[in-house]
Amino acid sequence: MKTILVVGGAGYIGSHAVKMLLKNNYNVVILDNLSGGYKDAVLGGDFIFGDTADPNCLKKLFDDNNFVGVMHFASFIQVGESVQNPGKYYQNNVAATLNLLDAMVAHKVKYFIFSSTAAIFGEPQYVPIDEQHSKQPINPYGLSKLMIEQILADYDHAYGLKSICLRYFNAAGADPDGQLGERHDPETHLIPLVLQAASGQREFISIYGQDYDTPDGTCIRDYIHINDLCQAHLKALELLLAGADSYAYNLGNGEGFSVKQVIEVARKVTGKPIPVKIVDRRDGDPARLVADSKQAQAALNWQPKYADLATIIAHAWQWETR
Ligand code: UFG
Repeated sequence: MKTILVVGGAGYIGSHAVKMLLKNNYNVVILDNLSGGYKDAVLGGDFIFGDTADPNCLKKLFDDNNFVGVMHFASFIQVGESVQNPGKYYQNNVAATLNLLDAMVAHKVKYFIFSSTAAIFGEPQYVPIDEQHSKQPINPYGLSKLMIEQILADYDHAYGLKSICLRYFNAAGADPDGQLGERHDPETHLIPLVLQAASGQREFISIYGQDYDTPDGTCIRDYIHINDLCQAHLKALELLLAGADSYAYNLGNGEGFSVKQVIEVARKVTGKPIPVKIVDRRDGDPARLVADSKQAQAALNWQPKYADLATIIAHAWQWETR
């Protein structure tokens, strides 16, 4: 059995990836410092409490195991916080990731799957956004991810480390079996907040601006089901194991939904009223972010299975009301 290291495997996306890898007969070792994840979200594999900021921890981990590949989900993801506290983002998302890459090189582990983001593109010049779109991040979060993409190109050239970067648009939904879901603290993402308003945990959902240049004035995003996202990671890993070259793919559903549309679908799925409050725009929100994922679909031989927004929200609701 091949052993995969999943860094950040106790977090939202990482925990779903661990479950999928186990289901596909990989041996999984999880490294997580539990800063944003939960031990009980790790449904199997060997859990190691530790941090990529600690080179000694990484050395021991790589000495003790024979990894064929690494998936890296452990990064900070809040755009606003990255503007207020860029050091936190560059330390963890760049410097600590570099420790991980250096441990891989030192131990001759060749395959790396990296969680990148639509935020590397900055303000969209056109939508849907393809891989060739200019990359001009407008916040430290996006820049921290772009830096790693660039570093990976150099590590491939110099050390033969092969990587696939997957640039997520809006990861959403939950494990269809109901075992896992989204648990950020604080929660900032639209769908879980909308569902908290549906369950009565929140009084209302704030809509951040309705004066955007979109049909209903609210921002449009591309929501991709967490299992589809994880399936793409699995395919990316298989591609690298089969000898593919390094590449970066945009990963979305290919269809955009506005904030108001999301709330409307959530009302139908939950049967709850969901009160809204229109508030000011949030800084740094582009009007539209939609992925062109044609390259990912072709290269990874991948198709979203849960493309329907109602299904994505239904799975998130199942988790919310567990
Ligand atoms: N929104 C609201 N009210 C809320 C929360 C969100 O109206 O209470 C709106 C946002 O303004 C945005 C949309 O809902 O238009 C989606 O917001 P999210 O915070 O759920 O997601 P983002 O599109 O801001 O963020 C996602 C990822 C980030 C990543 C970013 C890249 O979650 O990690 O895309 O641009 F950085």
